[in-house]
Amino acid sequence: MRRRSMVPDDIFRKAVDAAKSVSQHAYAPYSKFPVGAAVITEDGSIITGCNVENASYGLTICAERNAVFHTVSLGLTRIVMVIVYTPTETPTAPCGACRQVINEFGPQAEIVSICDKPDRRLQDRLDALLKDAFGPRNLQK
Ligand code: THU
Repeated sequence: MRRRSMVPDDIFRKAVDAAKSVSQHAYAPYSKFPVGAAVITEDGSIITGCNVENASYGLTICAERNAVFHTVSLGLTRIVMVIVYTPTETPTAPCGACRQVINEFGPQAEIVSICDKPDRRLQDRLDALLKDAFGPRNLQK
């Protein structure tokens, strides 16, 4: 397993377990596509989120955004990694909306997507997944 990042192995492993575990709380009766996410912040905190769907469909929130909002609500704003877990045979990278939200707090965060096939992991930096992102700096005068 090749992995190069600033996140220590023990924290990475705990975050993978946390993302898997929180996927069991996903509320996904419509898509039947549970997702778990774990954010790792600069101080090594691990904050989780799952997708929560709604009968109106459009109000569904993805696991990644739920985890980022949870992170900010705890007073943490420096994201270094986001792990996305789906109980599938292929990994799932964050949707465009989630990439934009992650950019606000972790423009260089590592985004790791894992599934039930350990050899099929995706790993990219957010700035590669969202090139020339619009962000806080664009609003500076
Ligand atoms: N979903 C996520 O939570 N994260 C992703 O990266 C992709 C999609 C959710 C939204 C919806 O509840 C379900 O997966 C199907 O799109």
